[in-house]
Amino acid sequence: MEITQVVITGAGGPDRLAVRRSALPAPGPGEVQVEVAAAGINFADILARQGLYPDAPPLPCVVGYEFSGTVVAGDGDDAGLVGQEVLGLTRFGGYSSALNVPRTQVFTKPAGLTHAEAASLPVAYATAWQLLVVQGGLREGDTVLVQNAGSGVGLAALDVARHVGARTIGTASAGKHDFLRARGLDHAVDYRTGDWVREVRDLTGGHGVELVVDPLGGESFRKSRQVLRPTGRLGMYGVSAASSNQGLRGKLQLAKTAALMPWFHPVPLMNDNVGVFGVNLGHMWGEVDRIRGWMQQVVDGVGEGWVRPHVDSSYPFDRAGEAHAHIEARRSTGKVVLTP
Ligand SMILES: NC(=O)c1ccc[n+]([C@@H]2O[C@H](COP(=O)([O-])OP(=O)(O)OC[C@H]3O[C@@H](n4cnc5c(N)ncnc54)[C@H](OP(=O)(O)O)[C@@H]3O)[C@@H](O)[C@H]2O)c1
Repeated sequence: MEITQVVITGAGGPDRLAVRRSALPAPGPGEVQVEVAAAGINFADILARQGLYPDAPPLPCVVGYEFSGTVVAGDGDDAGLVGQEVLGLTRFGGYSSALNVPRTQVFTKPAGLTHAEAASLPVAYATAWQLLVVQGGLREGDTVLVQNAGSGVGLAALDVARHVGARTIGTASAGKHDFLRARGLDHAVDYRTGDWVREVRDLTGGHGVELVVDPLGGESFRKSRQVLRPTGRLGMYGVSAASSNQGLRGKLQLAKTAALMPWFHPVPLMNDNVGVFGVNLGHMWGEVDRIRGWMQQVVDGVGEGWVRPHVDSSYPFDRAGEAHAHIEARRSTGKVVLTP
């Protein structure tokens, strides 16, 4: 079958994305073939294009961790899925008009969602669930600080926190605060201009928060650790601060972000009664049953009304570079998707 894909042709700016034709074989054992209607973009794709994402396949490559579409072929028992609308996770290759993916990585698309909304769901909500519920142990009445609250994962984290019954503080560029409050965020903080550590302390009567989820990396992890209440946890899950398009300067930015990462010594952690943990959903492919359990809760959450995927914008494959540039310019709120 002939397909179209958005290929990262080399490390660099958004102009390194190009549409190419390619051939897709029949699905292998345990796989289904999905005609893709929408593919979600994640910040990791931006870092991959910049040459700053160690997990990315060798260049040139096709990235994309998630999609929504229709099953067009299946192997054995899975042939019964043909015609079903699904959303799913894929280990790269999501920026394709069709793909083959293990049957275990697809889920029935809730009928009430558009394909763009469904493609916005898997990575953001599975990551948020792992961060807040599974490892973060967030409970009703706790306060959580969601760094980068206007991102895809950030909005999902707000939905999960509200579902749990926690109070939410979120950081984002100031232009996103009204939107975030309208989504139900309790307190919006501008982390780019003010002293957000003091602001979070003030908002919590000096106590600090039970949980921080932080994808910024570098110095931000050190500051996030400072606003933990005794028994609090810091969940670290990204290095957005390293993002840069500028070749050698990009590598220096990455090195600087890495150099500013704190070392958490066990003794102060014990003495302060706090914990730190990391999350990388992209290293969970061997834990299919766990992911399926989390994803089922999320898919059920759509019907229950607490999972509300928000599509910022949608771009056709031949404008993928504009989509990446839009995200890098910090103009997106929620998810940006590509359509073949
Ligand atoms: N570990 C995991 O399993 C996992 C899974 C998914 C995502 N992540 C990480 O979570 C973070 C959010 O991912 P996402 O896909 O949800 O993000 P996204 O929706 O693409 O987020 C874009 C937003 O990030 C903020 N941002 C912060 N630093 C930035 C920078 N240096 N350049 C551009 N934008 C920056 C901007 O919002 P504001 O300026 O308003 O804050 C921007 O609008 C990323 O670090 C990503 O790598 C990790």
